[in-house]
Amino acid sequence: MDRAARHRIARLYDNRLQRLYVRSKLANDPVYAATAALVGGSDLPLLDIGCGIGLLGQYLNAQGHLPPYLGLDHDKHKVAAGRHALQRAGLDAVMTLRHADVAELPSAQGHVALLDVLHYLSAMQQLTLLQAAARHLAPQGCLIIRNVLREPNWRFHATRLEEFFLRTSGWIPGGAQHYPTASELRSPLENAGLDVRIQSLRGRTPFNSYLIVARPHR
Ligand SMILES: C[S@@+](CC[C@H](N)C(=O)[O-])C[C@H]1O[C@@H](n2cnc3c(N)ncnc32)[C@H](O)[C@@H]1O
Repeated sequence: MDRAARHRIARLYDNRLQRLYVRSKLANDPVYAATAALVGGSDLPLLDIGCGIGLLGQYLNAQGHLPPYLGLDHDKHKVAAGRHALQRAGLDAVMTLRHADVAELPSAQGHVALLDVLHYLSAMQQLTLLQAAARHLAPQGCLIIRNVLREPNWRFHATRLEEFFLRTSGWIPGGAQHYPTASELRSPLENAGLDVRIQSLRGRTPFNSYLIVARPHR
């Protein structure tokens, strides 16, 4: 995505800090491009769990992919900012942001995205959510998870430091609860009948981030 497109999306948000965050996130983090590569060209609905300010939907639209999109998040301020941005972009008729907890998933089946959300949940909540997300996949659907994984390296500690600032700044009230290992994610997904692929995805960030892609056996 070029600079002009990043700035166009950032201008949809009212708050100066959010505009800074959006520009930096779109410039440095490959997670939205990786998601677009997996769901682009598909008509299946996309459920974006823990959608924050709805940046994934904005990115997909800017890249010419407009799947039926439903984002949900329990932070009402982020949902309000995301809805306002959708209205400004004229996307509120085709994309929806809902104030809801991860425990309150709608029934539609399609693709599911869980980008940088799992570690804000307890180990038990993560397991329950992974099982629910697997049930939300259509036969041709794709579960896209991006998360920090617990590993003994400096990147993991850099991520924990970042999470400390996210919590104390109020960006993520409550903060991180449990950092999963790769096998804590792989096992429940494989037990749900999914093929699982895990690869590093950190772009120009120092964080210990991975992309986990799970699909029904074909
Ligand atoms: C780091 S942000 C990621 C936002 C978005 N997925 C993205 O990548 O642009 C994590 C999001 O998860 C949300 N979240 C954390 N726990 C949640 C829960 N129990 N229910 C719904 N959303 C939750 C937070 O409010 C926050 O917006």
